[in-house]
Order: sequence, then structure tokens, then C-alpha cells
Amino acid sequence: MMTGSTEKPIRSVAIIGAGAAGAVTAAAFKAEHYFDRIRVYERRETTGGVWIHDVGPRHPPQVQPGSVAFEIDPPLKVPDNLPQQTDPNHQERYSHTSLYENLTTNTPDIAMCFSDQRFAYGPFVPHYVTKQYIDNYFAQHKTDSFLVLNTTLEDLSKLPPSTPGGFNRWKLTLRKHDPVLDVDLWWEETYDAVVLATGHYSVPYVPYVPGLKEYTAKSPDRVIHSKWYRSPSLFTNKRVLIIGNSTSGHDISLDLLSSVKLPLSQSRRSSSRWDGNGPPQGIEWKPVITEYIPDSGRIVFADGSYLDDIDVVIYCTGYQPSFPFWNAENNGRELYDYRAGRLLRNYQHTFLQDFPSLGMVGLPRVLTFRSFEYQAIALARYWAGREWSELTPVWAQAKWEQARAEKTRRERRKFHDIPWDNGETEEWFGWLYRFAGLGSLSGDGRVPPVLGRDVVWAVENLKKYPEPGKGDEKSANAELDGTVEEDWVIVVREEKDSLAFI
Ligand SMILES: Cc1cc2nc3c(=O)[nH]c(=O)nc-3n(C[C@H](O)[C@H](O)[C@H](O)COP(=O)(O)OP(=O)(O)OC[C@H]3O[C@@H](n4cnc5c(N)ncnc54)[C@H](O)[C@@H]3O)c2cc1C
Ligand SMILES: NC(=O)c1ccc[n+]([C@@H]2O[C@H](COP(=O)([O-])OP(=O)(O)OC[C@H]3O[C@@H](n4cnc5c(N)ncnc54)[C@H](OP(=O)(O)O)[C@@H]3O)[C@@H](O)[C@H]2O)c1
Repeated sequence: MMTGSTEKPIRSVAIIGAGAAGAVTAAAFKAEHYFDRIRVYERRETTGGVWIHDVGPRHPPQVQPGSVAFEIDPPLKVPDNLPQQTDPNHQERYSHTSLYENLTTNTPDIAMCFSDQRFAYGPFVPHYVTKQYIDNYFAQHKTDSFLVLNTTLEDLSKLPPSTPGGFNRWKLTLRKHDPVLDVDLWWEETYDAVVLATGHYSVPYVPYVPGLKEYTAKSPDRVIHSKWYRSPSLFTNKRVLIIGNSTSGHDISLDLLSSVKLPLSQSRRSSSRWDGNGPPQGIEWKPVITEYIPDSGRIVFADGSYLDDIDVVIYCTGYQPSFPFWNAENNGRELYDYRAGRLLRNYQHTFLQDFPSLGMVGLPRVLTFRSFEYQAIALARYWAGREWSELTPVWAQAKWEQARAEKTRRERRKFHDIPWDNGETEEWFGWLYRFAGLGSLSGDGRVPPVLGRDVVWAVENLKKYPEPGKGDEKSANAELDGTVEEDWVIVVREEKDSLAFI
């Protein structure tokens, strides 16, 4: 049965972001042949999102230890009267990507692609092949005409519904940089619905460590985040310390081995699936850092050891989502809890309980492109009134959210991390699949894909790196670096998930 709900006349949809999530969202919405106006706003000059390769900047912004995204990436002030032309913005927006020269994909192509189009080849491809894939995806679906490039969403404020009892609409304040005139043009547009596909790997996270702020102030170029790492050639004969042991920490360490002064030091909080019993040749393992001593340049570790001769520290400690455009005052609440790391009042990581005309695609940490596809189709079917079953009542959505918050907190996991090995990914995909439902023989719209045996086999068996250790070492340093909160139930952290690197 299709619900064909009529009280939500959604005809115009703005998609924010033209990365992989925006690409498949645009395709899913177009396939409905229902919406009058679909636009994809992208702040960069091209499609591709994280797969755009940026060379610079030569002098990256200083790290901000312990700061959360809303402190690092605050909103711009919107001019009073719109439309308006202003001098170009110079505030850092973290829109550069973190790709480095030698980066290849880490997920087999059959599991990384969308269901209707394979990568040019596989299983693991250079970064530019993924960029070409996303660019082509827009062209193949003829959704490139929806693109509005060089255009940043700077403010998102709710508007009243256009019909009594309907969904609220949205006012978007947009800023387009005109590179020829070197000015910013500001204007407003309204849409019935908005999908946020803005990614979550652009604002760097660097943990608080005593003395780090003073250390960077004293030697500004000595500490960088992996976001700004580009090539081993910049580190020839340098003594380098890597912090972190997830994908960036591991991959950048290996990339650097050919150029740096050995040993390369790597500070690890926990082991990963690809660690053996000891470090690879040329690398020395260190525990977490307890203190930087700015005057001497000494870096002290949890086991009491120290390093005095480090030229560059590279923090490979991940990223945090950022929604500087969310106008909490106009919208009556915050969208995201930056300290807890989760969307507030969300359902299935995709819907917002109190904003039924706002959708999210791409926030969970899970099998990437395929999950974007399930989310995008579910939203497109819902807003076209062709979803297979009624959306769960708001009280039950809230119950789902509370149960997940409690479960993930108990298990010391992040709310939006959806593991593969424990079946959560399949359960979540299954929910989105059932909600969207199958199309009718002569109907419009995109059908959610089958999660085929070949995809599942590839996820479980095709590995970019050998996995001798599978991450079974308990987080030995967690207490030392202050990540264990008093009221947490400590559970033994078992093997890291097969897709923990994603
Ligand atoms: C270095 C790196 C390597 C990775 N390697 C892999 C891999 O090998 N395999 C894998 O499966 N996944 C990998 N990932 C994960 C990757 O994030 C996903 O594969 C996927 O490409 C993310 O797509 P997205 O569209 O959700 O986000 P993004 O690609 O980040 O796209 C979001 C887009 O939104 C735009 N945007 C943001 N804010 C605004 C705004 N206010 N206004 C307008 N536009 C805005 C951004 O400019 C960006 O283009 C990697 C991630 C990184 C950082
Ligand atoms: N295709 C590729 O080859 C490639 C290369 C680079 C990055 N990527 C992608 O980029 C994304 C981000 O990966 P990432 O490795 O940058 O980030 P990440 O996966 O979030 O890893 C962050 C790392 O920082 C450590 N860390 C966090 N807080 C810490 C603290 N307070 N003290 C000490 N250590 C701390 C974490 O340790 P714990 O594990 O103990 O929490 C983890 O090792 C992923 O999608 C990844 O797949 C892909």
C-alpha cells in the first residue's frame, strides 16, 4: 500500500551539498517526476565533495585543541538587506578537502558505488576515479542542471506552512562567490523541503592536551591536522609524530615512511584491525600524550617516555560535523549537540521529529554511498507521497531515539556510528528499504536496491590492508586521556568493526 499522503504538498526541494550524498539524492528526487523545482547548492566550484583534490593551503589554520565545530566554524554575519553584494568573505570555512596525493579508496568498488552504476574499475581506486564517478553521476542522471555552484547556504530558517496543517517551509539565505568580480552576492530563496547532504569530514577535531595550545602558539607550523596533509615530499628528513590509529593515522604513516627520518612515531589510543603484534618496520608506537612542554619542545607520553626532537606533529584524530547555517533562534532549537555528537530529535538518522520537511543524508558512519542511496530514496518517496507505510508517529520516533541514545551510551559508541558486524547496518538499511517500498510496474520513482550477496561478500572479504590484529586490544589509555566518564558502564571493547575504518 502507498500512503499517498495529501496534506504535504512538497513541490520544491533544495539539496545542500554536491558530494556523493547530494548526487544520489538529486537522482532519487528527479526519478519521482513529481517535484517542480529541485536545486543542489554547493559551496565549491565543482561536484565531488571530499573527493575534490585541493593542493593548498600552504599555511593551514592553527589547530584548536578541544574546540567543537561551532567554535571553530562559526556562522557568517548575514547582511541586513537582501539581495546584497559585499566584499568577499575571508573567514576560514574549512571547505578545502583532506585528500592527499597518494590516497586510494579503502572500500571495494562494488560496495562503494551506487546500485545503478559501477566505478570505472576496482577494487581500490585512486581518489580522482571517485571524483570522476560522482561528476558523471550528475551527468548520467541529467541532474547537473540542478547544480548551483560556488554557493553556500549561510542561514536556514523555518517558515510557516503554505497550507493549514502542512509541513513548515524553509527560507534559505545563500552566498555566491563571484570569482571574476571577486565579490559575494547574497540572496534568499524559499523551498517546501530541504535535504542536508553537507558531509561530516571538513572541520578537524584535535583533542585537548595540556600545553598543546601554548606549544602551537610558540611554534605555529609544528602541529597540523591530517586535513592539511598532502604529500610525503614536504616532510623529507623530518622527525614526525602521528597521533591516531584509524584510517588517516595508518595510511599517512605508511605514506610518510619513504621520506621522513626514521623511526616515525605514532601515538595510539587503541589498536586497529590492521595492527599486528608490533609496529611495522620504521614505525615506533607510543601511547597517548599526557603533556606538551612548550619551552623545551618536549612531548610526554602516558608511559612516562618523551620525545624532544619532533619537527612536525600530525593529528589524525578525525572530524566533526558542522551546521553553522542552522538558525537556532528562528527554528526554536539547536539541530545538533556538538558535545554529544548527535542530531537532536532525529529518527533513523534521516528524519527530524519536529521538522518533517527537513531530511538528512550521509551523517552516519556506515557503508557510505549505498546508505546515502537508501536514505535519499526514502526521503524522495516520502515527500512525493509514495512511501510504502506511514512514517512512525512522533512519540514512537522519540522512543526510538531515546533507546538508541541509551544503547550507544551504554556500549560507549557514537550515536551515528552504525556497525556492520552486529547486523545494525542491515537492520537500518532494511527499515529504509521497507519504508520506501517497491515501485509499481508503471509508477515513477526509484526502487531501493537489494543488498546483494556480492556486495556483502566484498565488504567482508576484500580488504585494502591485511588484518592480523582485528582490533582486539582494549582501549588501554582511555582513562589516562580523560575519555572515560564516571557514569559510563565500562564494557570490554571487542574487535573493531569490519567497517570501523569507513
Ligand atoms: C580523506 C577521506 C577519504 C575517504 N575515503 C573513503 C573511502 O575510501 N571509501 C568510502 O566509502 N568512504 C570514504 N570516505 C568517506 C566519505 O566521506 C564518503 O565516501 C563520501 O564521499 C561522503 O559524501 P558526502 O556527500 O556525504 O559528503 P561530502 O563529500 O563531504 O560532500 C558534502 C558537500 O557539501 C558541501 N557543503 C557543505 N556545507 C555546505 C553549505 N553550507 N552550503 C553549500 N554546500 C555545502 C561541501 O562543500 C561538500 O561538497 C573518505 C573521507 C575522507 C575525508
Ligand atoms: N581512503 C583512505 O585510505 C582514507 C584515508 C584517510 C581517511 N579516510 C577516511 O576519512 C575519514 C576519517 O578518518 P580519520 O582516520 O581521519 O578519523 P577517525 O576514523 O575518526 O579516527 C580518529 C582517530 O583519532 C583517535 N582519537 C580521537 N580522539 C582521540 C584522543 N582524545 N586521544 C587520542 N586519540 C584520539 C581515534 O582513536 P580511537 O580509535 O581509540 O577512538 C582514532 O584513531 C574516514 O571515513 C576514513 O575512512 C580514508
